[in-house]
Amino acid sequence: MSPALHPDISHLAFMLGTWKGSGSGEYPTIDSFDYNEELIIGHVGKPFLSYQQKTKDAATGMPLHAETGYIRPVGREAIEFVIVQPSGIIEIDEGSVEGHDEGGRIVVESTLVATTATAKDVSGVRRRLEFEADELRYELDMAAVGQPMQFHLRATLARADGES
Ligand code: HEM
Repeated sequence: MSPALHPDISHLAFMLGTWKGSGSGEYPTIDSFDYNEELIIGHVGKPFLSYQQKTKDAATGMPLHAETGYIRPVGREAIEFVIVQPSGIIEIDEGSVEGHDEGGRIVVESTLVATTATAKDVSGVRRRLEFEADELRYELDMAAVGQPMQFHLRATLARADGES
């Protein structure tokens, strides 16, 4: 039996579901790359969304980046992301949400990035997500490894099933 959506996240229902698609990335210090992604955004009846992402190298099919966490509303216009990456990075992002029944736009920026002793240096992250009916487009900028904040990723995903 699935729990009902908590009223505090009802305005974020456009995010729910399994999303699949592809993207590409670059950074001045690395070779450009293409990837395939699966993102599952769910809920358990509490006032937050769960967020589980995994990617594979488009050329080899080998696992690439992954991240998992939670998305927390702050009223109807603000939002918080809490994200953990297996590369030893944790990220807290805060920002705004403009939503409606069919989609929405979310813009967040890190207020905290913490790295383990062995992780690559990351000092800032910005994420922009646009949900439009069954399509999700996002872009991610980062300040890392001594480089100023700049583009790292963009992807377009499609809803792969109904809401989860
Ligand atoms: C769809 C998600 C992502 C994919 C597919 C991806 C992929 C990659 C790839 C292929 C590289 C180069 C090889 C490597 O170092 O492993 C890389 C480097 C890197 N990525 Fe990402 N990445 C993603 C998200 C992120 C996020 C969210 C962050 C930080 C918040 C991040 C931080 C870095 C850093 C710090 C490097 C190292 C750059 C260097 O060593 O010069 N990546 N990424």
